[in-house]
Amino acid sequence: MDLEAAAKIKQLEKENRILKKKLLRAEDTCVQLEETTQKKEALLRQFIRELQDSKTNLEEQKQLYTSLQKQSLELQTALKELRQTQTHLIQAEKMSSLGQLVAGIAHEINNPINFIYGNISYLKEYIQSLITFIRLFKQYYPEPIAELEEITEEVDLDFVQTDLPKVIDSINIGTNRIRNLVISLRNFSRMDEAEFKAVDIHEGLESTLLILQHRLKANNTMPEIGVVKHYGTLPLVDCFPAQLNQVFMNILANAIDALEDATNHRQSVNNKELPKISITTTHPELNWVKISIHDNGLGIPNAIQEKILDPFFTTKEIGKGTGIGMSISHQILVEKHGGKLDFNSSTDKGTEFILQIPIKQQSSLGV
Ligand SMILES: Nc1ncnc2c1ncn2[C@@H]1O[C@H](COP(=O)(O)OP(=O)(O)OP(=O)(O)O)[C@@H](O)[C@H]1O
Ligand SMILES: [Mg+2]
Repeated sequence: MDLEAAAKIKQLEKENRILKKKLLRAEDTCVQLEETTQKKEALLRQFIRELQDSKTNLEEQKQLYTSLQKQSLELQTALKELRQTQTHLIQAEKMSSLGQLVAGIAHEINNPINFIYGNISYLKEYIQSLITFIRLFKQYYPEPIAELEEITEEVDLDFVQTDLPKVIDSINIGTNRIRNLVISLRNFSRMDEAEFKAVDIHEGLESTLLILQHRLKANNTMPEIGVVKHYGTLPLVDCFPAQLNQVFMNILANAIDALEDATNHRQSVNNKELPKISITTTHPELNWVKISIHDNGLGIPNAIQEKILDPFFTTKEIGKGTGIGMSISHQILVEKHGGKLDFNSSTDKGTEFILQIPIKQQSSLGV
């Protein structure tokens, strides 16, 4: 029994030794594991640090990018504004030279025509007296001397007597027409007026048509452009008259350009449709007037309709169009006058521009 017990103890001691060794090995492995874990932890920390660094870097770059984007946007806006100002300046310069020229011519014509106009009534009176004298002379001296008889026949005195009053009337009509022309020219230029004025829109349209008259008349290549007016009863409208005339001028000149193109095209396909511009004015709402300018040209192709208000967009050949007429018209009407500018256009119906202008400006309403 003791022997058995001793053998068992031995066995147990052996197993104990083995276990101790195993424990020692396990402790070693544990130390190694701990070391590796520490190394890995250090690596992980470094990795996290690097990640954080690159995150800050990225954020900085993002900020830089955003501020660059903002700057580029600001630059784009500045460029757009600059182009608009430039457009405005070019057009203003163009119109101001035209206005000055027109005002100058009107002024130069005004003096001599007033001179003629002022003397017509005297001329009429003197001629009437002379005719009365001749009639009385003939009445009291029915048989004058031969020389007088001869000259009476030579100058055809009877005819002169009946025709002279007609000549005077013609001169009178002509002079009146020229005087109206001068008034229209002055109206068109209205150089002196840089403030909002209560203005008759029809006067502006009429004087603009007058300036464009030479382009409406028939010539070797074009039949006359008919102008049909449907003028409603309009109140006076608060506006910068010279600028509004500039809008009428731009839109009417475009209509004429379109009709010239259309006529060339129609002649080539033997289409007899005649060029026509219709101007309609209405007073549809209390504070608004509406002006429609329609041409029976070939319309604006769909693909370019949204571009026609862009500065410098033109389909005309170099030297003919600068592409600023519509953009400046939009600016004057919408930005300066708080109005609206719309258009409808199609190949078969031509183009209609619709201008809407408030009758009273906000400032004058006390708003
Ligand atoms: N009534 C119209 N019919 C057809 N196309 C038109 C009409 N009005 C404008 N357009 C188109 O819009 C474009 C831009 O017009 P806009 O008046 O701005 O410039 P432009 O007439 O070409 O040059 P300009 O600066 O001399 O006026 C024209 O080139 C033309 O293609
Ligand atoms: Mg134009």
